[in-house]
Amino acid sequence: MLKDAQGLEVSTDSYEAVDAISSFTNQALSYGKEALNAVKTGLLSDPTCAILHAYAAAYFLSQENEQARKQAICYLQAAIKHSGNITEREKLYIKAISAWAIKKIDVAIALHETITDKYPCDLVSVQQGQYHYFYLGDKKKLLNIAQKVLPQNKDNHFLYGMLAFGLEQCHQLEQAEAMGRAATKINRNDPWAHHAVAHVMETQARIDEGIAWMEGLADTWADCNSMLYTHNWWHIALYYIERGNYLHVLKLYDTYIWGRARKDSPKDQVGAISLLLRLELRGVDVSEYWHSLAIYLLPRLHEHALPFQDLHYIYALARAGYTDWANEMRLSMYQHALSLPSYIRRQWLEVAIPAARGLVAYANGEYLNTVIDFKPVLPRLYEIGGSHAQRQLFKQVYQDANLQLAPTLRYISASIS
Ligand SMILES: [Fe+2]
Repeated sequence: MLKDAQGLEVSTDSYEAVDAISSFTNQALSYGKEALNAVKTGLLSDPTCAILHAYAAAYFLSQENEQARKQAICYLQAAIKHSGNITEREKLYIKAISAWAIKKIDVAIALHETITDKYPCDLVSVQQGQYHYFYLGDKKKLLNIAQKVLPQNKDNHFLYGMLAFGLEQCHQLEQAEAMGRAATKINRNDPWAHHAVAHVMETQARIDEGIAWMEGLADTWADCNSMLYTHNWWHIALYYIERGNYLHVLKLYDTYIWGRARKDSPKDQVGAISLLLRLELRGVDVSEYWHSLAIYLLPRLHEHALPFQDLHYIYALARAGYTDWANEMRLSMYQHALSLPSYIRRQWLEVAIPAARGLVAYANGEYLNTVIDFKPVLPRLYEIGGSHAQRQLFKQVYQDANLQLAPTLRYISASIS
């Protein structure tokens, strides 16, 4: 039995496969763009390595789209086929990824908690657990799963970055910044730690410091996957929105955000949509941008990978004038919700779908309907996941709809009296 770079036993006799496992781990934790290549290289050396197949499946599931989910299932089948004589940790991991593939997120989370209790050096599992908590809006558990393995990973900057993000989401801002800075001091190439500190500075409105921090580290992001590369630049764009430098924001959009995005990647699409809407909320005319983005959303209509993603898609479709697609998607969201287990169904029926109606109404200038649909769900928006900074957008939409309505309400009030 060989051990990977995390000191975890892996079921292969191939040193090349072990190197590939260690390389994948490093790529996953550093949000590198070579994660899938690392796995594929390892499988060339040992096509029977179950954990490598499971890592490939996890990679594809994290893409959060239907086509990638089908690829994930092929890898999962191979992982299961070769799981006859593997370690307990590897079996638990394969079960966790299998649960994710069939959207049993509660089961997946329980398995990642078990793995991290028994094998606290498995930081890929910690990261995966945080991912699920993030999209369930459970910030305390997102922090806790990282905190509980700190004693066994005291010098690991990747864990510091995970802790920093968890602390920031729990509004422990000073500790979050200290942890993110400590990670960056150990290794300047830790884009997730940079990102956590960017959140702190955004929350505290430290705009100039945020720009200096992120732009000063941006040279290290060249090897990031497109999700974090575009997202870190998205954070920089938020600072420039606060500065009112909208021309520069559009330049960032064209150069580093949509310009560098994988156009078929849901997470990259969400970031671009979110930025365009934020510019609109500042009165910037971005109407010409919507169509060129929305044409990439047709494959998203019936996916429903995450409610957080769907809210972005449906707004962009409506704003680009694809009314039929937006309506089709809303109906499809409803059908999808009915097919889900009750604990997730509520998230869709009671939060995501009313919010989707509100966003379509806002895109169509129907501000009263926006307010009516959004007001009851605002306190529960955390349930659809995403970060505070990302969800802030929906609150801004609600506030702007109220603002747009004010003259009409004043007129009605004056007419009645
Ligand atoms: Fe972020």
